[in-house]
Amino acid sequence: MARRTVVTMPGDGIGKVVLEDSIRVLEAVGFEADYVHADIGWEFWVKEGNPLPQRTLDLLEEHHLGLFGAITSKPKNEADLELAPELRDKGYVYFSPIVGLRQKFNLDICIRPCRSFAGNPLNFIRRTADGGFEEPPVDAVIFRQNTEGLYGGIEWTNPPDQVREAMATHTKFKGVAHVPSEDMAISTRVFTRNACRRILEAAFEYAEKHGYESVTVCEKPNVLRETSGMMEEVAREVQKEHPTIQHWSTNIDAQMMWLTKNPENYGVLVAGNMFGDIVSDAFAGLVGGLGFACSANIGDEVAVFEPTHGSAPKYEELDPPIVNPIAMILSAAMLLDHIGDTDKATRIREAVGAVVTEGKVRSYDMKKIPGGSSSIEKGAATTFQVTDAIIEKLG
Ligand code: NAI
Ligand code: MG
Repeated sequence: MARRTVVTMPGDGIGKVVLEDSIRVLEAVGFEADYVHADIGWEFWVKEGNPLPQRTLDLLEEHHLGLFGAITSKPKNEADLELAPELRDKGYVYFSPIVGLRQKFNLDICIRPCRSFAGNPLNFIRRTADGGFEEPPVDAVIFRQNTEGLYGGIEWTNPPDQVREAMATHTKFKGVAHVPSEDMAISTRVFTRNACRRILEAAFEYAEKHGYESVTVCEKPNVLRETSGMMEEVAREVQKEHPTIQHWSTNIDAQMMWLTKNPENYGVLVAGNMFGDIVSDAFAGLVGGLGFACSANIGDEVAVFEPTHGSAPKYEELDPPIVNPIAMILSAAMLLDHIGDTDKATRIREAVGAVVTEGKVRSYDMKKIPGGSSSIEKGAATTFQVTDAIIEKLG
């Protein structure tokens, strides 16, 4: 396999720690690559007024593969206050660089696998009729449309007149027609047929390739008749091209309720941007939470792999670091899957599983110890010790 170049974007806080550790694992598994560092995050907002510098975009455009740690974002007033004095009042506006990356490279397919590792003390358990408990194995893979819908950013407070006029063509606008614009906020939810098709095709193909029986579309078509309705309609078409895979549908609210009833019954799930965000966090909670939640953002040219957690500022100063590197390490394994190096990806997942099941080396979250400077003396392993244990299991 040709030698790859991976663009590494550690970002802020614990992003820096976990990304570096994931590279140690990639190297230990024998993945031959060059790593080029790229700037992203708060530091570059403060110094340059841009948390996603053009040079970072250029590197991704050239090399196509990115590993991303996490970034810090802060509310508007804090962002403005922290900007370097010479940049203030020059019209710089903070934006989330990871959302920026998704939009710039049309990384419209977000994959978030949520699989339980046997023996993880953070796994969901369920009470049985005889008063005992059972631990259903969870193996759900959420496909989230990553670029449009409610997170597409088409929104206004105090909407311009043309927007009001356009909305007034809808009979339902009557109910709010008397409200002055300055007292009105509008966030739109645009779905496009092509984007629905792309996420659904990716999901059905994944189900076929990995032996899942079903794809569940998790939306709300009984209320959001147009947008969720379009997702359902396209799903029916795409299913016909994949006759061995069943198409199921659930409503997002009911899915949240069923989550703890029968999570083992779900395989591949598909949702629009916001419901995908919700349902993937919910499933992640059943398999260990943020320390285990990995993800891929995939476009036609570029793909970026990242843990779903943020920069965890309350832990960023701790030395040695205590956060769980597994979410980032599993994200790095997804990079290997993406380029077809599935053997190495599988070896990494098996090594993670072996460490979790064995239970000798566990970060504070798995130990259920409060996170902080005393976690280590209370028996938690450091970030590096967890990574070392995983590397050791790679053999
Ligand atoms: P967070 O994900 O950074 O942390 C929330 C809590 O989850 C932590 O305090 C910790 O208890 C736990 N946690 C997170 N990662 C962990 C790990 N690897 N191991 C063990 N425990 C872990 O979310 P929070 O505190 O809401 O946001 C902090 C900053 O991160 C904010 O500035 C926010 O905007 C940003 N953020 C960035 C994201 C990204 O880069 N994709 C995603 C979410 C938040
Ligand atoms: Mg989220």
